[in-house]
Amino acid sequence: MTKKTILITGANRGIGREIARQMADLNWQVIVAARNLQSAQEVSSQIGHNTFAIQLDVTNEDSIKIAAEKVSEQFGRLDVLVNNAAIMGNASMRSFDLQEINQTMDTNFMGPVRTSKYFVPLLKKSDDARIINLSSGMGELASLRSGGYGAYRLSKTSLNAFTILLASELQGSVKVFAMCPGWVQTDMGGKGAPRPVSKGAETAVWLATDQHPVSGNFYRDKNVINW
Ligand SMILES: NC(=O)c1ccc[n+]([C@@H]2O[C@H](COP(=O)([O-])OP(=O)(O)OC[C@H]3O[C@@H](n4cnc5c(N)ncnc54)[C@H](OP(=O)(O)O)[C@@H]3O)[C@@H](O)[C@H]2O)c1
Repeated sequence: MTKKTILITGANRGIGREIARQMADLNWQVIVAARNLQSAQEVSSQIGHNTFAIQLDVTNEDSIKIAAEKVSEQFGRLDVLVNNAAIMGNASMRSFDLQEINQTMDTNFMGPVRTSKYFVPLLKKSDDARIINLSSGMGELASLRSGGYGAYRLSKTSLNAFTILLASELQGSVKVFAMCPGWVQTDMGGKGAPRPVSKGAETAVWLATDQHPVSGNFYRDKNVINW
């Protein structure tokens, strides 16, 4: 039987790298995508099995298009896309720091939209296709009043809305999930975060492999949470 395929954006470090490692251990064909090809190749060789490195910058449409063509040539289809790549945008709304808000939205919101555009045709060739959007509790509507990190929050709330819309429009062909990994020890989460990357990756691996998750929902620790 041919191996199932999963592509993870921003898989060169942090939670993305750990999702790649855990999925390779489950004997999936893992496409390690990173904007810097060399870092994707390094992670690929460190994992050592079931990996294929690819260049993919989620802010660059050409780069995504070329990556999708390579995946099509190499594997003919994709089973799971993990939209993991993101940046932290600290700008508050009242700062109206257009450059930072725009850059954060371009990476964290438009990045998954752009990437999905080029991989949905390949996902439609799978009989169990899924998109997993790495969101955050900081994008939950009820949490927005607590303030701080406005640009980042806006990008994740938008990503959640994209998840609901796409899940509904692709019902019956591609399942689409959003998830929060919790507060995880990575460059983004910082050293003080309570969760190791293994725990941060756990729900993504479950969403990629389990039959229970329901498309169009937001998950943390394998449980549905509020938008
Ligand atoms: N850590 C947490 O506590 C936490 C909590 C909630 C949600 N999340 C979410 O979980 C996901 C992973 O976070 P993390 O903590 O692992 O972050 P991280 O350690 O900062 O890693 C971010 C990854 O995204 C990549 N990236 C950034 N811009 C990119 C672009 N334009 N194209 C391609 N890749 C790009 C980075 O690549 P480079 O190495 O090239 O920069 C890196 O691989 C993110 O969506 C984040 O918002 C994290």
